[in-house]
Amino acid sequence: MADDLSGTFNVGGVEMARPFRIRRLGHFGLDVDDVEVCRDFYERMMGFRVADPLPLGNRLPEEERGKYGSGNGYFMRHGTDHHSFVIFPRRVRRKLLPHITGDMTVNQITWQVGSLREVVSGTTWLKDSVRIARTGRDAPGSNWHFYPIDPAGHTNELYYGIEQIGWDQHSKPMQIHRKHYTEPPELPHRSELEEVEEGRNAGVDLLSGVRGIERMEEKYDVGGILMGRPFKIVKVGPVRIFVPDIDAALGFYQDILGLTITEEVTYKGHRCVFLRANTEHHSLALYPIALRGELGLSEHTTMMSIGMQVAEYSQLHDAVDFLTENGYKISKLPQELFPGLGHNAFVTDPDGHLVQLYFNMEQIGWDGKPRPAAERPKIDNENWPKTLPLDADMFNGEVYLGPWS
Ligand SMILES: [Fe+2]
Repeated sequence: MADDLSGTFNVGGVEMARPFRIRRLGHFGLDVDDVEVCRDFYERMMGFRVADPLPLGNRLPEEERGKYGSGNGYFMRHGTDHHSFVIFPRRVRRKLLPHITGDMTVNQITWQVGSLREVVSGTTWLKDSVRIARTGRDAPGSNWHFYPIDPAGHTNELYYGIEQIGWDQHSKPMQIHRKHYTEPPELPHRSELEEVEEGRNAGVDLLSGVRGIERMEEKYDVGGILMGRPFKIVKVGPVRIFVPDIDAALGFYQDILGLTITEEVTYKGHRCVFLRANTEHHSLALYPIALRGELGLSEHTTMMSIGMQVAEYSQLHDAVDFLTENGYKISKLPQELFPGLGHNAFVTDPDGHLVQLYFNMEQIGWDGKPRPAAERPKIDNENWPKTLPLDADMFNGEVYLGPWS
């Protein structure tokens, strides 16, 4: 089933083994203990903008509200997608969803598919074989989706059609969402434009949604633009997670979701597997949970790290300097754990999660083969060169659209 070449589903005219095709990692979310402190870090330090807050705490019984700190969730973005990164209040989430286990701080691993039909057909195809947490549509964000859960309990989401935010920085006003969807819609469904027109004709102010702003003084020259920090995040991912059973995880991520294995590595006896959705060497890396303690990483989370790509190699140096100056801890891990990834460093967020900063990742072409390990540039993370020689695939892969700020 892992091979799309033997398919029986017609997905937009192409024969596939499943009724959808994941195109890319769309966004990623974490549950954090102090959501306001983390918001400050991801906004001011990392440059994300809040697209919409979600007052999750209001879903608690009235007598419990306010007992567990801020109840806000924050949908954040680095580009035009309404959200590429989300943070939610962990204590509140655990009150509302008591089945969430001790070290599960991953809120969601979210994948973009190609059409609304893929979402609806995928929901039908999977509902008898996989636990699906919910279906329908997100507001905020407008994306149609379903949420399958992996064998270790990580929530995944497959979606189509996330809201885009443009030059005016305004999210779609909530009043545009005139209907709440908690199950897949009848197809065909009317377009987003038609929904917006209906709201506009009913008098909704299209500029009344949340407006993202810069909270730092714009004093850094970044590629010729004055910005609030000396780097620009242009992509979120790859996701690295620890799992108790690699084969069970592959049964989900490879066989069911259809991700492709690029490479496997044995690190000190531990089998680590790297999967991709598109041309990137990996968008998801699976590591055995036993490795977490051996690496000295925090036991409060099954996430090893979330990747964040910066726009230029020089910005990687500047990002590390900037975060260090602002009091954040920078660390490195053995490069053998990251085949295909260029120079990288980790910053620890206020909740103890690791964010992996990097500039480039190996890209995979038509033959599906990674570069042989012996032919890869040698990466010494303790001694980053000031400049890099141009490498063949250095600027390939997903391209950031639009201005940086
Ligand atoms: Fe999502």
